[in-house]
Amino acid sequence: MQSEEPKLLSLLRLQKGYISGKIISKETGISTSGISKRIKTLRKYGYNIESRHRMGYRLAGETNLPLPWELTKVLDTLFVGKDKIIYRLTTDSTQNLAILLAEKNPNSDGIVIIAGEQKSGRGRQNRKWLSPKGGIWLSVVLRPRISASKITLLPFAAALAVCDTIKKTTQLDAKLRWPNDVTISGKKVAGILIDISMEAERINYAVVGIGINANVDSSSAISSYLEKGIKVTSLSDELGHKTNILDLTKVILERLEYYYMELKRCAPNTIIEEWKKNSDILYQKVAVTQNNRTIQGIAADVNDDGSLLVRTNDCNNINVVASDIHVRY
Ligand code: BTN
Repeated sequence: MQSEEPKLLSLLRLQKGYISGKIISKETGISTSGISKRIKTLRKYGYNIESRHRMGYRLAGETNLPLPWELTKVLDTLFVGKDKIIYRLTTDSTQNLAILLAEKNPNSDGIVIIAGEQKSGRGRQNRKWLSPKGGIWLSVVLRPRISASKITLLPFAAALAVCDTIKKTTQLDAKLRWPNDVTISGKKVAGILIDISMEAERINYAVVGIGINANVDSSSAISSYLEKGIKVTSLSDELGHKTNILDLTKVILERLEYYYMELKRCAPNTIIEEWKKNSDILYQKVAVTQNNRTIQGIAADVNDDGSLLVRTNDCNNINVVASDIHVRY
């Protein structure tokens, strides 16, 4: 999208009724054929623009998509989304695009990539993440100057940001499920994926990927999870109506920046303590499956490094790390 579309939009907003193509052309310097091309693009981006023969165009409705020029107007952050926000109606994966940009721009911090839909969305443990239109699919490039041991807490910080956002903007009772799912009534509504590039002990960059089933039909979403027996839901299914994706995205980015700064500033257990307050995992029965072996027990605690302490039925304590184990509760 070129910078002309926002210019065209401001002109349409200024005008209460219709504005002719001729006047738009005079005011913006865009040719008449250029105007109709851009009107088409704006409609694809969700703006309702009416056109009438001899009268021109009229803006009849705003978009609720988190387009860069809309998000910039409302976003209250220090660096997340300040340098660059990219929006794609369709892409393979915002995570892959973010990694590419992080590699290409070694000094960039806080770049945000958002997509309307993803054709090859990635989930944790190499799962496919179905990402139809209506969801929130975004990735943020961060350059954390923190010790490698603290970086294991980044997914917890991101999940907290999403949980806060859902509670604040929808009043739904969102909860955190170890390691980094967000659930409503026990059903998964959002997930976090983190890709990290490291050299020796130094972190080059981290890409935080956030996927939320916002306005999607949950029966068709994240089918790979359904197969594994994990129930899923969406915000619109829970609410019975659609949510405003622009508002949600704004709050997610603000809360993500907040918890990320907390993670950098505070002792490691600050994030975990906050995470535990929003989770109902403690003292629940869990089944941990590793290498085709399942161990039953109780979730006794979440350690300061984010690992799960499980007290097994035969009274042993084991620490479960998120990366290679499947936990059910
Ligand atoms: C999970 O398995 O729970 C994590 C899912 C993360 C999905 C998000 S959507 C935006 C970003 N781009 C991707 O391809 N994946 C992440």
